[in-house]
Amino acid sequence: MNVNIDKEGTIVILTGAGISRESGLDTFRCKDGIWSKVNLEDVATPEAFMRDPDMVQGFYNARRAQLTNERPKPNPGHLALARLEKEWPGRVLIVTQNIDDLHEQASNENIIHMHGELLKIRCNHCDVLLQWEEELHTNTPCPKCNETGGLRPHVVWFGEVPLEMDTIYEALEDADLFMSIGTSGNVYPAAGFVQAVQQFGDCHTVELNLDPSNGATSFAETIYGPASEVVPAFVDKLLA
Ligand code: APR
Repeated sequence: MNVNIDKEGTIVILTGAGISRESGLDTFRCKDGIWSKVNLEDVATPEAFMRDPDMVQGFYNARRAQLTNERPKPNPGHLALARLEKEWPGRVLIVTQNIDDLHEQASNENIIHMHGELLKIRCNHCDVLLQWEEELHTNTPCPKCNETGGLRPHVVWFGEVPLEMDTIYEALEDADLFMSIGTSGNVYPAAGFVQAVQQFGDCHTVELNLDPSNGATSFAETIYGPASEVVPAFVDKLLA
């Protein structure tokens, strides 16, 4: 590891599905990943929701049920990031593409879910945002406005703008260390963060992944292996 940042420095950490793989949650593009079983155009676009809302709700109901029934637990990769947030004197921010709650379960606090959260829903009629652990159906009335047909998973579909992008770019502008963990670098704008931080200024960039992502050559440093092993080892060195 050749990272030498000021202990008061800002660390921005991008995470993807790979960090939750060892907690039992599928990734999207690995072998047997979610998109090898389901066509994303059928379940993860606004057009799909217009065309067949029951199919879309069914897809997210199954994933929500996996979180609420199987209760997957954070693995050493998540726990190491919680330790980093607690013990690093400077600012630590997690920007996750994941819609699971494993970073929260690991007790991280500074988290931005740029692609939304599976355990939240919102209403297209009254814009209320609610915690939700049940099944959701097209005829489920909104608890606030009582209308039906407006409730949808609080997730960002392809073609929609991710959440809190201004806050994310402000943090990237301030970053001294950018870590990317468990993401394939296929989906923008997240896949472009490694270039953005280098345009903003002097920021060390490191990729921690099972195998090289599409953006691997853009990183100053790359470390390959399961997140449950490489993330704790990297955090230990940072805090040493
Ligand atoms: N440890 C570390 N990395 C892992 C592990 C592991 N145990 N298992 C898999 N990986 C890596 C893979 O090598 C791959 O690069 O995680 C990455 C997962 O890539 P994707 O499945 O493409 O997931 P992600 O990059 O998070 O997808 C981005 O795409 O489908 C949309 O909205 C969805 O947020 C998601 C976005």
